[in-house]
Amino acid sequence: MARRKIGLIGAGNIGGELANLCVARRLGDVVLYDVPAKMEIAKGKALDLGQAATVSDVESRIIGTADFADLGGADVLIITAGVPRKPGQSRDDLIGTNLPIIRDVASRAKVYCPDAFVIVLSNPLDAMVYEYRRVLDAPRRRVVGMAGVLDSARFAYFLASEIGVSVHDIRAMVLGGHGDDMVPLLSNCTVNGVPIQDFVAPERLASIVQRTRQGGGEIVGLMGTSAFYAPAQSALAMAEAYLLDQKRLLPAAAYLEGEYGLRDLYLGVPVVIGKDGVERIVELALDSNEREMLTKSAATVQSIIEVVKRS
Ligand code: APR
Repeated sequence: MARRKIGLIGAGNIGGELANLCVARRLGDVVLYDVPAKMEIAKGKALDLGQAATVSDVESRIIGTADFADLGGADVLIITAGVPRKPGQSRDDLIGTNLPIIRDVASRAKVYCPDAFVIVLSNPLDAMVYEYRRVLDAPRRRVVGMAGVLDSARFAYFLASEIGVSVHDIRAMVLGGHGDDMVPLLSNCTVNGVPIQDFVAPERLASIVQRTRQGGGEIVGLMGTSAFYAPAQSALAMAEAYLLDQKRLLPAAAYLEGEYGLRDLYLGVPVVIGKDGVERIVELALDSNEREMLTKSAATVQSIIEVVKRS
């Protein structure tokens, strides 16, 4: 069987870590693309990773490039092009810089690899993935945004640490926009099926929910730039679900056409990812508080999308 081709748009912190993970997981050949000014970094990372793969005995062709034609025929594109947050910035503050970048990437992708399954990470996430799909005019099953897997991982990590159980046993899902009003669900959060409320007192739960909402900002405050290991790992899980037809149920930013009473926006909801991309959008029975929070988060996302539409 021919090896699969994974295109990474943006060879920065997340792009580089993703390239490493794709090779380590033997997912296929990797193309690390960046702007001409960063082409040598992309080429250097590709060379370094090719040599690492030699040590770990992985057959993978890894190239760095500033020529979009090299992405032709890619099965998956993972988009991290853009600038990350600096301390004190919100994700929405990035829109002025990242909107032209996402438009540039989408218009090139439309020419060279219009049929790839696309996972967008650039922020502000929900608006950037909306714009990417709009420019491409692609079916919604082929363009998805990565935020929910990451936000849920943060939530699960904090809960596991609080309770003193394996992260493996925490079932936690965060829906809504990738911003401060995201919606960590409590109604279906469990330790292997046992309600989370049996383990954590309400006031501690409230503080963990709040820390989850600001989980990205906490890392920006520590490092001066945004997280990259967990975002890369989260995007990898989604790419793997597609490439290996795993039919995984994951929270992700999907284009809504009436689900949850919402339409014409991207928002974090549970989806099933398999060989056809976003194969299903799952509508959960949320409690009234969660539904209200989701509606509020959707309104925030919608206001950013309106800015994008006017720009
Ligand atoms: N085409 C391709 N790559 C681009 C373009 C473009 N038009 N414009 C910028 N880039 C590249 C930059 O040159 C840089 O190498 O995107 C890369 C981004 O890498 P980093 O600055 O290291 O940022 P990173 O931490 O990887 O985050 C990227 O993902 O999570 C989001 O908020 C984050 O929007 C940010 C993005």
